Amino acid sequence: MHSEITSLREEAENAIRTVTDARGIDEFRVRFLARKGSIAALFDRLKTAAPEDRPALGKMLNELRSAVQQMLDEKSGAIQAPASGEAAPADLSLPGRRGFIGSKHPLTQTLDEIRAIFVSMGFGVADGPEIEDDYHNFEALNFPPDHPARDMQDTFFLGPRALLRTHTSPVQIRVMEEHQPPLRVIMPGKVYRNEAISARSYCMFHQVEGLCVDRGVTFAELKGTLIEFITRYYGAGLKFRFRPTFFPFTEPSADIYISCFICGGKGCRLCKQSGWLEILGCGMVDPNVFRSVGYDPEVYTGYAFGMGIDRIAMLRHGIDDIRLFFDNDIRFLNQFRQ
Ligand code: PHE
Repeated sequence: MHSEITSLREEAENAIRTVTDARGIDEFRVRFLARKGSIAALFDRLKTAAPEDRPALGKMLNELRSAVQQMLDEKSGAIQAPASGEAAPADLSLPGRRGFIGSKHPLTQTLDEIRAIFVSMGFGVADGPEIEDDYHNFEALNFPPDHPARDMQDTFFLGPRALLRTHTSPVQIRVMEEHQPPLRVIMPGKVYRNEAISARSYCMFHQVEGLCVDRGVTFAELKGTLIEFITRYYGAGLKFRFRPTFFPFTEPSADIYISCFICGGKGCRLCKQSGWLEILGCGMVDPNVFRSVGYDPEVYTGYAFGMGIDRIAMLRHGIDDIRLFFDNDIRFLNQFRQ
């Protein structure tokens, strides 16, 4: 047994020399030091040795075990050392690396500008959930049960009760459920529509909703507020027009157009040769909407408006594909550093 201990030591010394990686370390440990390893096997055989030899053999085996453990420790130290952070000293001749500073997404910038104008006119800011129910997205907004906007083609349904909001108007309902007039708020956020994805439309985009409710609010106030916004945002020289339209939740309703700032109103591809660009929908809050939130339509009147942010940002920066906003391509985003 004496010679077996000596040759096992030699065996271990040879084996440790061939170990170069963490896997080798593990194999070495299993082979020699584990509970079923070769050193443990020799300890087992100690019982069969002559009683007078056992103390000396036991001592040799203990020494062997700590020697092999030491080989293992030294080897794993050597393998891990380069990764321990105290690697080669810094190479001062290398070129520097420029720090990367992020920037605001062009849509965030657009929203910030729009918000600043409304806040300066006394509007507060509110938000609401992107996952809505039929009641807030349609019913309370006076959509008849068979209105085409409820169609599966437009709305992403998440189940029998839940859907992704198709506009920010449900936030009007939520704000009015929580607060009594007078109210003057804008409500920015994401909206979702199940439309074919193309350069001009995406399944998700952004709107800013506006709502003002008080005693005696008139259409003249709606016009004054929105004209103030348009001239501050687009510049004073711009021409604009209001055209009657229909929304279930406003009556009367209008779409606001501005003269196309690409062609100056002469007609181009962007404005589809009309000379005008539609930028927002608006109107006086329908009495039925007030009834659904428990406001008395004989006491209160109000106006609401909604505008798409993505198109405004596209027009402003001359971006011809809405999908660029959502690709997160750093080469695109870097062009909008402020
Ligand atoms: N919710 C309408 C839309 O998504 C916009 C709108 C809001 C119109 C408020 C009138 C009043 O098209």
